[in-house]
Amino acid sequence: SHVRLPLLQVVLKNVSRLCHAKPIVTVNGKFPGPTIYVTEGDNVFINVTNNAQYNMSIHWHGLKQFRNGWADGPAYITQCPIQSGQSYAYNFTVAGQRGTLWWHAHILWLRATVYGAIVIVPKNGTFPFPQPYKEAKLVLGEWWNGDVEEAVKKGNKLGLPPATSDAHTINGKSGPLFPCSKKHTYALEVESGQTYLLRIINAALNDELFLTIAGHNMTVVEIDAVYVKPFTTNTLIITPGQTTNVLVSADRSPGRYFIGARAFMDAPITVDNKTAMAILQYKGVPNTAIPITPKLPASNDTELVTSYNKKLRSLNTAEFPANVPLTVDRKLFYTIGLGQNACPTCLNGTKLTASLNNISFVMPKIGLLQAHYYKIKGVVAFNSTVELVLQDTNLLSVESHPFHLHGFNFFVVGSGVGNFDKTKDPAKFNLVDPPERNTIAVPTGGWTAIRFRADNPGVWFMHCHLELHTMWGLKMAFVVENGKGPNESVIPPPADLPKC
Ligand code: C2O
Repeated sequence: SHVRLPLLQVVLKNVSRLCHAKPIVTVNGKFPGPTIYVTEGDNVFINVTNNAQYNMSIHWHGLKQFRNGWADGPAYITQCPIQSGQSYAYNFTVAGQRGTLWWHAHILWLRATVYGAIVIVPKNGTFPFPQPYKEAKLVLGEWWNGDVEEAVKKGNKLGLPPATSDAHTINGKSGPLFPCSKKHTYALEVESGQTYLLRIINAALNDELFLTIAGHNMTVVEIDAVYVKPFTTNTLIITPGQTTNVLVSADRSPGRYFIGARAFMDAPITVDNKTAMAILQYKGVPNTAIPITPKLPASNDTELVTSYNKKLRSLNTAEFPANVPLTVDRKLFYTIGLGQNACPTCLNGTKLTASLNNISFVMPKIGLLQAHYYKIKGVVAFNSTVELVLQDTNLLSVESHPFHLHGFNFFVVGSGVGNFDKTKDPAKFNLVDPPERNTIAVPTGGWTAIRFRADNPGVWFMHCHLELHTMWGLKMAFVVENGKGPNESVIPPPADLPKC
């Protein structure tokens, strides 16, 4: 069916957290932004009007946008930004996907505050797990006391990273551990004995996060809008860009239980001053009851992360098969590096950079997809199968790199520490039920192998979903094309496509 969603208005709004008030860029004045509900198969029409002073573009993270990069959103890759005072209608079909994804600004660092959930309701009766009683969202993010764009500008002048955020957030709120933040605590009310579906999204700019609910286990059923073989855990790990659906039963003695979100880094964090807390509150329990605190893992618990990621397997049933490419037409090996480059305009003459295969991507001045549409040659043949090994070369960096590919899901067929061994490691690939997703963390000093079928023509951005690393150049684009037949090419651009 055709669904015309309410107008999304990009507007400034005064918001106060942690005793700091400031105007932030929002959609419809909401922080986090509104949830977009669609049903599998819907053709969606979303008009975005930009009434903020910044240029804007919105990305529908994880939606495949078949033949329709015009609706994908990354500024200067598939569209020019929507300028202040202008609007653009994103028109796309939600096909073959169901579950939780999200949307966010895809220009500058504006996704710091411009983000929200996308819920794709499955076709009737196709949810392959016990029906939950109710559902809720936990959208994880970050809060800066100061202005983010100003901080970025200042950092760039010095050739250094900008100041980091002041707190993590759950549904825009950091919880009672911060000054003036008690009233900004998200509470999820549950009924004793009932089961809830939680849609968890990591919308943070730069932090991979652990999430733990005191006293309660979570059953993971879906990642990045793909069902998985259910497994139970008390902590989950989620990188920026990823989504995770879990079932939680309110099966403990009625009370108040903290839900904690803490950063994962490979280096120990000496002062943990950013952990956000929300509350799982049983109905009928007074607000005065003291909440039970979760046992959050140490911020450098790499082992937990590795073992958690190993548990992720595609559901792989007849109804929801894992169509892993068994043969590979194109093998690619890319290295990920952080380093320093000369910077004549920076204070000390150099700046930190990030690169893929030693190339720091520089943003083009016009939309790449437009350039492509008007005849730039393709690099990956339509419908070929691609295997890409991402190798982190930087043993000194303290974070894994959450790589996100636009336009496709991919299968994570293997991962390991140290250097990828092309004679031994492929024999260990999981080609049966590997997790299928759109964002994957490449471990520090390690590698990750993904496979996908290039069955979506267009220009598709791939980048580290840590905003700092994207800005520093850890990004590239795939061009998928062979110029034969209408199903193998991009649809014509819409008339209202913004101009640069
Ligand atoms: Cu969620 Cu290119 O981004």
